[in-house]
Amino acid sequence: MGAVTLKILLLGKNGQVGWELQRSLGVLGERVALDRHSPDLCGDLANLPGLAQTVRAVRPDVIVNAAAYTAVDKAESEPMLARTVNALAVGVLAQEAQALGAWLVHYSTDYVFDGSGTRPWRETDAPAPLNVYGQTKLEGERLIQATNPRHLIFRTSWVYGARGGNFAKTMLRLAQERERLTVIDDQFGAPTGAELLADVTAHAIRQAVQATNAPALAGLYHVAAGGETNWFSYSKMAIALAKQSKLATKLVVKTVDAVPTSAFPTPARRPHNSRLDTAKLQAAMGLTLPDWTQGVERMLAETLQDAQAP
Ligand SMILES: NC(=O)c1ccc[n+]([C@@H]2O[C@H](COP(=O)([O-])OP(=O)(O)OC[C@H]3O[C@@H](n4cnc5c(N)ncnc54)[C@H](OP(=O)(O)O)[C@@H]3O)[C@@H](O)[C@H]2O)c1
Repeated sequence: MGAVTLKILLLGKNGQVGWELQRSLGVLGERVALDRHSPDLCGDLANLPGLAQTVRAVRPDVIVNAAAYTAVDKAESEPMLARTVNALAVGVLAQEAQALGAWLVHYSTDYVFDGSGTRPWRETDAPAPLNVYGQTKLEGERLIQATNPRHLIFRTSWVYGARGGNFAKTMLRLAQERERLTVIDDQFGAPTGAELLADVTAHAIRQAVQATNAPALAGLYHVAAGGETNWFSYSKMAIALAKQSKLATKLVVKTVDAVPTSAFPTPARRPHNSRLDTAKLQAAMGLTLPDWTQGVERMLAETLQDAQAP
């Protein structure tokens, strides 16, 4: 591979994945990274003309869109805004990328599926979203596929970042406040680190963009950490690690009980089966997706270390 420096437009730079992309994309070339409040260029996906203007001004080789309307329950009562950000804006990005001959890299979700069965979902399985968020994310995928062949769409699941809040940190907080916790045990998936997604994205961009003139590696890929768990088992693991740390003296939790999803009614229905089959990505890109425990143990080690600091 020859040395190629890419100009990359990153949208949603301060989300879980966007934050890690600021790091991982650095080795690929020049970055223009925006969030919705960026002062000079419009990074607001609800402002469609402003977004188009940004792409025309920056003239990137690659657009990486990590921005999304991710408030799954709120989307049920704000379907228009969710659709604008997750679908219409993505369509604008696809059009503008196509006009420039640029690549569009985008993230989608296992929520495009109905969560039935136990087999990991493949890229060829029929989507059937259960909620507004999933519907809008599916529409975004389809707009890209219909508009710009130079695309990478990464469907992922159960994303956590080391920075800010996440499920495991919430469990550790609750374990210091309550003697009894109840956690859902009938939703299955693989917690996937924003760091891992960002690293896979950088590798995939390098390979896809430099592959050939034709976008041979373009397409839709499932990307998640290896293995599987459920929220109950995940919480037990986090608490077990906390018990081996200096945080142990602060834990008041005595029991963690498994409950079904129906114990926590939410406005948006959620899939029971969020398992993703990642064989296509691993084969096409020559990458290995490590077991979910590796990333979670690392994130918890950092969290617990911080918690111990005086
Ligand atoms: N989190 C998950 O479990 C999960 C699972 C599957 C797929 N995904 C997908 O993975 C991608 C990255 O998600 P994430 O976990 O990094 O989500 P996140 O942490 O919620 O980040 C999303 C970012 O988008 C920004 N955003 C929202 N509305 C915007 C707008 N109108 N204009 C510009 N930016 C806007 C948010 O900014 P504010 O903070 O200002 O709102 C936030 O920085 C998304 O495509 C998501 O659909 C996530």
